[in-house]
Amino acid sequence: VTTKTHVNGLKFVEINTDLCFATIYLQGAQIDQFQPKGQQPLLWVSSADDYQPGNGIRGGIPICWPWFGQSQVEGFPQHGFARTTTWDLVSVKMVNQVAFVTMELNVKPEHRNFWPHETKLQVVFELGSKLKVSLTNTNLTDYPVSLTQALHTYFPTSDIHNTYVSGLAESQYIEFAKGPYAQNDDLVEFTRETDRVYTNLGAAQVITTPEGCIVVERENSQSAVLWNPWIDKSQRLSRFNDNDYLSMLCLEATNVLEDQVTLAAGASHTLTTTIYWQT
Ligand code: BG6
Repeated sequence: VTTKTHVNGLKFVEINTDLCFATIYLQGAQIDQFQPKGQQPLLWVSSADDYQPGNGIRGGIPICWPWFGQSQVEGFPQHGFARTTTWDLVSVKMVNQVAFVTMELNVKPEHRNFWPHETKLQVVFELGSKLKVSLTNTNLTDYPVSLTQALHTYFPTSDIHNTYVSGLAESQYIEFAKGPYAQNDDLVEFTRETDRVYTNLGAAQVITTPEGCIVVERENSQSAVLWNPWIDKSQRLSRFNDNDYLSMLCLEATNVLEDQVTLAAGASHTLTTTIYWQT
């Protein structure tokens, strides 16, 4: 498989088929671009990001693993270390116009103090006119292992003030460690900083933007994070323009809080998200 190299040294796979265009970086196994042919891009990336080795890319789908958010242990990186570690490219295959890209993370010796458990982590990107991402954990130890994780998807919009998320009604959410609150309305709009963990969630949500509706499906995930940093936090975020909050939102397929993954010895779990433009 031939990879390409960004000017700053990061290696990536480029997929250009009749159905889509995509680029996936080996660092973090992070897809940053996905555009079905004849449609708008489905992923957002900040123009402030210059793709430096060692940083996650501010956009696309960072993989947060083996913990989501801040670690219980001081000094451990937010959202884990998978997003800043270089994964191994296993294969690129074409089946009926659909490209399958598989990458694996082998935990490096320097990460052993973060994660001493022997686990296999594999991601498969299925790239057709939809994007399907499947993240499989296998516990190779002889004891149970628990983890939290996220497919931290950044979606584009031309106007956050005219962007709505539906499919959240009748669930509960926690915001800034407060709650749980009941989500009664079906439509969530953005008028301020939003940083919520939704729990007991149905399998699909829809983001309505001026460009059209994006469907976000999840499998083996009963939780999702909805995030927009709004005005003040945008100014504090790395690799993010002050006004980027106007043109993005994150709706993340997660396994967090009571939806964390506990794997028995030898067991596997696959977190999947599928995203596409509703036609
Ligand atoms: C979200 C969190 O998922 O990720 C936010 O809920 C956080 O609290 C955001 O600010 C971005 O995190 P980071 O580490 O990529 O800046």
